[in-house]
Amino acid sequence: MIALPLCLPKSMSKAQFLSEYWQKKPLLIKNGLPALVGMFEPEDILGLALEEDASARLITQADSKAADAPQWQVKKSPLAEADFDNLPKFWTVLIQNLEQWSPELGALWQAFDFIPQWQRDDIMVSFAPKGGSVGKHYDDYDVFLAQGFGHRRWQLGKVCDESTEFVAGEPIRIFDDMGEIVFDEVLEAGDVLYVPPKWSHFGVAQDDCLTFSFGCRRPNLMQIIDSLADVATNNPALFTPMLLPQSSQPSGALEPSSIDAIRAQLVELLTSNQGASLIQQAVCEVVSKRQYDALVPEELPTTDELVSAITDGARLKADFSSRLIYTVIDNETVIFANGQRLDDISPAAAQVLMQLADSKALGLEDLNEVDSDEVMDWIENGWAWVDDGELDELE
Ligand code: SIN
Ligand code: CO
Repeated sequence: MIALPLCLPKSMSKAQFLSEYWQKKPLLIKNGLPALVGMFEPEDILGLALEEDASARLITQADSKAADAPQWQVKKSPLAEADFDNLPKFWTVLIQNLEQWSPELGALWQAFDFIPQWQRDDIMVSFAPKGGSVGKHYDDYDVFLAQGFGHRRWQLGKVCDESTEFVAGEPIRIFDDMGEIVFDEVLEAGDVLYVPPKWSHFGVAQDDCLTFSFGCRRPNLMQIIDSLADVATNNPALFTPMLLPQSSQPSGALEPSSIDAIRAQLVELLTSNQGASLIQQAVCEVVSKRQYDALVPEELPTTDELVSAITDGARLKADFSSRLIYTVIDNETVIFANGQRLDDISPAAAQVLMQLADSKALGLEDLNEVDSDEVMDWIENGWAWVDDGELDELE
């Protein structure tokens, strides 16, 4: 069994990456993800882009820019073969959420296990012929740009902010000026470039080229507030009208002191133990939600096939197109899968799910306390898959 090494330079620890580079500085990791090499060919990706359920975009760049016309065009899926006829010289096709189509690819997240699952977004792939790009731009999230096939030249420039202006009238967020170029390298298959949020970047295919973006995410406060309202709905006490002090005031007025009194009760709730549980539950629901709809798995093993595969040495792994996370709420370990709290699971099943969530590949010896029908449910839900290949977890 081959262990999957961490995607970091050999001499760098997880702690060093997190303190010196994460959200601060870009990092080139030569041959950081060798397992990606040979996994996909351009034809695989072009075929997948045509699938009805794929989240794909075809971005084309006009050969010459007509006055007042946008230079770029975006066509979103469903894409048809005809969309690929008569393309201009420079184009790119992007597919999001690729781990949904390939759990083997999703398993490569294990090389990034210094990034917790709840901060992972998805793996996007781009195919472009020589000269293709998606323009100079920045992203709001951290991304690991892994070269899977061919070569791409990456340039990095200024760090942007909300005031950075984009070219007007274009359907994608691009700009012309990246400021001083601080990084300029051609990546080859297996190389990985870490780009922190807001860093301007520009990647141009040097030949037929596949780039896999292992993208991260962070929740925003609006999502938490929204989720808090949902969670609070299950709490009947919160529907009781508040008792409020009354002062003598004109009948048309809503005195700031009344709003302050309401605010004080809200703050009191949020800072109480009950508030802490509500916030924990709300955060867990947000960060364990998947961004893309789950696809119904096309082929599922039968329970007998599952049991015999595991008996023959296959390993059960988390399917990283799902989010499986655990936390402690009110002194109890709680597991969330794709935005749902799992309340009715046995302690043995909970232990196994926690190990899967931590990227452990489990064999017969780890699973004998759990009912095989329960494991089948996890596979049907898309939380786990059976790997009979040769990758094993990194210990
Ligand atoms: C690409 O793969 O062409 C673009 C990826 C990115 O810039 O985030
Ligand atoms: Co980008």
